[in-house]
Formats: sequence, structure tokens, C-alpha cells
Amino acid sequence: MVAIEPLLRQHSERFGAAEHAFQAPGRVNLIGEHTDYTGGLVMPAAIDFNTVAVVSPAQGSASVIRSVDFQKEFQFDASALPEKPKHDWTDYPAGVLWSLRQSGVVAPQFTMTLKGDVPLGAGLSSSASIEVAVAFAALALAGKSTPLTDVALACKKAENGFVGAQSGIMDQYIACCGVKDHALVIDTRDLSSRAVPLPADVRLVICNSMVKHSHAGGEYNQRRAEVEEGSNALRAANPAVRTERWELRDATLADLEKARTSMSENAFRRCRHIITENARVEEAAAALASGNLRRMGQLMAEAHASYRDDFAASCPEADLLVELAAAQPGVIGARLTGGGFGGCTVNLIEAAQAEAFREGIHAAYLGHAAIDADIYLCQAAAGASELAL
Ligand code: GLA
Repeated sequence: MVAIEPLLRQHSERFGAAEHAFQAPGRVNLIGEHTDYTGGLVMPAAIDFNTVAVVSPAQGSASVIRSVDFQKEFQFDASALPEKPKHDWTDYPAGVLWSLRQSGVVAPQFTMTLKGDVPLGAGLSSSASIEVAVAFAALALAGKSTPLTDVALACKKAENGFVGAQSGIMDQYIACCGVKDHALVIDTRDLSSRAVPLPADVRLVICNSMVKHSHAGGEYNQRRAEVEEGSNALRAANPAVRTERWELRDATLADLEKARTSMSENAFRRCRHIITENARVEEAAAALASGNLRRMGQLMAEAHASYRDDFAASCPEADLLVELAAAQPGVIGARLTGGGFGGCTVNLIEAAQAEAFREGIHAAYLGHAAIDADIYLCQAAAGASELAL
């Protein structure tokens, strides 16, 4: 977690006394990948890595956002925002202000100091944590109180319409609504969620493959297009599903099989991953709630195999981490988490073995891949909040 005191000091040295400070967490997804733009189910937890935004009204006529992490400043006129992304860190705050403005929220000119400790490009949603922290700050400056799901939707819109990543709602939702010591089962069709407690004797251990990934363009959007192709073929093959509300979430494996010849092999496999993944999330939520950790671990293994083989979104390093995890002490389950093509694995580990697991997997990965992985022992954290000054 970012320490607030030094950040407040830096803000007041550069901009004068802070008026508000907000924090928003990163996340790890336990199960349910690429289902969140098809009305499906996901089960993430917010983690104890976050972004903090300290704000105060501007002294002059310009707004300034200072990133402590990048040691850079972004100066702009809050009433005339850039309409195009610059493809750097400023896209996230600018995108949020752009998105909020479309729903009629205009923040007065302001100064902001931003700092985060969510590892960048690691699949732990550093971008959503920045977006949500900035959105909370901008809404406070504009004097608006907004339901959390609307904040999440506004941040998703920033990601889709400004940054250019066609991502779903999971990351922004969990950054807004995370519950301490719980995972959330989120129904991305109606945006309802329920919290599932994580057993006290289980730790979330996140292993960074150190393979960087980026969502803006590239493979993520390509997978999404393949899923779209499959969904369209399913719709066309079955007139009964040609309703407004039909989404891939509603399809069964039998529906998919019937439509198989009207879509590419890739589209078929991507859709098969999503249909089976939704079923796995339901079962995982039940397994976790009833303390059936053995089943939870099996489901994580099945989810990883489906993500690797049907969705083709893994990478050799993540596969190796999952394989090596199985031989470590205290492991309940392991899989690649997040958007894919690199990033981190999530591991459920018996708490008493968490340190031994960390050491064991670090040494094994170094030995097999010659990569010095960052490994994080995490707690499931609460969602975004205002910090007391
Ligand atoms: C990224 C996106 C999410 C989700 C995951 C994959 O994190 O931002 O919306 O699609 O990938 O589950």
C-alpha cells in the first residue's frame, strides 16, 4: 500500500495543502477470464497494492497531474481536454476526465499527485486502480456522489473509448467494490455481486512471470474479436437466441457444437473457453464457500488449461510457473490470472506454507527459466475509499 504521509508532503511542497486523498486497489482474478465482456461471471479479489491520488483545487488556470512514479507532470486545461490518447501514463487520468465529462461531470481546475505500487504491466490492473482513484478525486472535486457501479462503468468507458483497450468491467468493478478478506463473484450482465470469504488459513500468492503485457490494442483485442465472431455465428445459427438480451453467457456447449461449421476454429475454441469458464466460476464459488479447497484447486487447474489451450492466451513462462507451483509446499491451486500473454499467476497457498512456497517457486523458476521473479504475498483488500487527512 502506498504510504500517505510522504505523498501528502510532496503534494503540499509542489501544490499547497491537499484537500482530499483517495486510494483504489489493484486486483487478482481467482477464476473467470475473458468472460466479462460476454455477460459472464468472474471472481476477482482486490489486493493490498494500490494507487493514491492526492488533490487540491488549482492555484492558477491550468490543471496539473504529477506522477511520482514516472517523475513527470501533465499540464492541461480541465475545460479543454485532449481528445486523443498520447499512449503514455497520462491516458488513464485524461481518459477518466474525458469519460466523466460525457456524463456531464466537469471537475474544476485541480492539482493532483499520483503514486501507485501496483506492479505495472503485470496483469494486476494497475490501470484500473489509477482510473478509479482519479475518478473518485474528480467526482469529489465536482461535488458529485455517484453509485460505485457507475464509477466503474465510467472508468471502463475511459479504457474502451479513450485508451483503446476493449476490456470488460471486471477490473474497474473490483477496484470500486472489493471487500476485505473476500473474493467477489461478479455477474457482469446485471452488475450484481456477492462476496465469498477467503479462508483465514489460505494466502494469495502472486508470481510475476516478468513477461510484460499490454492491453491497448494487440492480442487482447484480437481475442475479443474472435469471441465476437463466434457469438455472431451462434446468434445466426439459432434464431431462438436472436433476442436483444442474448449474450454468449446464455450459450451451452451443445449450441456451440451446432454452430461449429459456421465459425472459424479459433472462434469455436475461444467461445468454448468462455462457456466452460462460466460453469467453472459458479462451481468455484460454491467450492470456496463450502471449504472444498481441493475442488477449488482442480477448477483453477482446469481454468488454466482452458486459457492456455482453447483461448491461447498463456505464454511458456506462465505455464512453467503453474507447472512448478504443483510441486511446491502448501499449494491448493495455481493459474495464470488477468488478460493473458504474460503477467502473473495466482496461487492459493496454505498460509503456514506461504513463505516456503515463495522461496521454492522463486528458486525453481530461476533454475528453469533463468528469470528472477517478483513474488507477492497478498491479502484480499477493500475497494476504493477516501483517506482521512
Ligand atoms: C483484463 C481486462 C478485463 C478482463 C481480463 C480477462 O484484465 O481489463 O476486463 O477481460 O483482462 O479476464
